[in-house]
Amino acid sequence: MIGTDIAIDLGTANFRLYMDGRGVVVNEPNIVAVETDSEQIVAIGREAYEMLGRTGARVRVVRPMHGGVIADFSLMDAVIRHYLKQVNTSRVFMPRVVVTVPSGITEVEKRAVVDAVAANGVRKICLLEGPLAAALGAGIDVAKPRGTMLVTLGAGMSDAGVVSLNRLAASRSIPVAGDAFDDAIIKYVRRKFDLVIGERTAEEAKRTAGCAYPMKQGKVFPLKGRDLKSGLPSRVEITSDQLLEAIVEPAAQVVRMIQTTLEETPPELMADIAGEGILLVGGSAYLNGFDQLLSKTTKLRVHVLEEPEGYAIRGAASAVKMIDKAKFNPKNGDRATPLIAYY
Ligand SMILES: Nc1ncnc2c1ncn2[C@@H]1O[C@H](COP(=O)(O)OP(=O)(O)OP(=O)(O)O)[C@@H](O)[C@H]1O
Ligand SMILES: [Mg+2]
Repeated sequence: MIGTDIAIDLGTANFRLYMDGRGVVVNEPNIVAVETDSEQIVAIGREAYEMLGRTGARVRVVRPMHGGVIADFSLMDAVIRHYLKQVNTSRVFMPRVVVTVPSGITEVEKRAVVDAVAANGVRKICLLEGPLAAALGAGIDVAKPRGTMLVTLGAGMSDAGVVSLNRLAASRSIPVAGDAFDDAIIKYVRRKFDLVIGERTAEEAKRTAGCAYPMKQGKVFPLKGRDLKSGLPSRVEITSDQLLEAIVEPAAQVVRMIQTTLEETPPELMADIAGEGILLVGGSAYLNGFDQLLSKTTKLRVHVLEEPEGYAIRGAASAVKMIDKAKFNPKNGDRATPLIAYY
């Protein structure tokens, strides 16, 4: 097992782990079920996800990350430990790891990621910022002096960056993405229909009938929940137009963040982007019409890449080959690679 290198995409919704020579070996919800009395972990990943919204007070189901950053350090540590053990990385020949982080997270937040991974016995840790990971995942040569704009719409975080010369020439991120859309739907349904629905129902409605731009042929989604007044089970139907109304505000926030990133992009790189358009990845890139909304507001072409949720882990996986060249520089890397070597 000498030279086991791995890549981890620490996502707010999903935990992904790649092992050199074996491919993506873990792709599971980043979620933990904890027994309330004993604080013991009873399930991790898919099994815990199935319990979401279905447990009583005895077990709580929590996500270790929120808004793209670690919210509960000890739970995140437990998840990493669980999966490293599952894929059987050697404790003797400790692995080297590339971990994705959103661009623009604070030093303290970065440090938490490094510490959570380091606590589980690794030899070297390199961080890779979201837009660079996405670009590498899309097969783009990020070392070239050519600008490409990648926007990742995840669950907790939207991250926009212009990559060039192994770095981000401009970047912005905000903790508004898929989770914020789900929350907005929950609030809207409560306000409009006096109906209380769970996260999973809101997410399903979003995936099935949601949109960020008016759809030519809208859909209808049946919502089951609890009536706010009577407290009894109740159901209503929600249309695509109503779902659009629900998520229009957080979607606009993401668009504004992308516009700001464009405004901060050096003119030469802007010319490259005008030619190529914006590349959209991350699970929330599936959201109907977000590409149209963005294209309309920026006047640029927008391409949703195929199977958009897999780019970060694929990019981190290809960066594993660059670990040897990455020199220690926790501040901003060394430009020889897109990696930020921590130790
Ligand atoms: N068809 C769909 N329509 C709209 N949203 C979708 C669809 N499929 C998945 N999503 C959303 O994609 C998000 C998950 O994407 P992804 O796996 O990229 O997030 P993550 O990497 O875990 O989070 P982050 O990068 O923000 O920390 C969820 O919010 C989910 O609801
Ligand atoms: Mg992600």
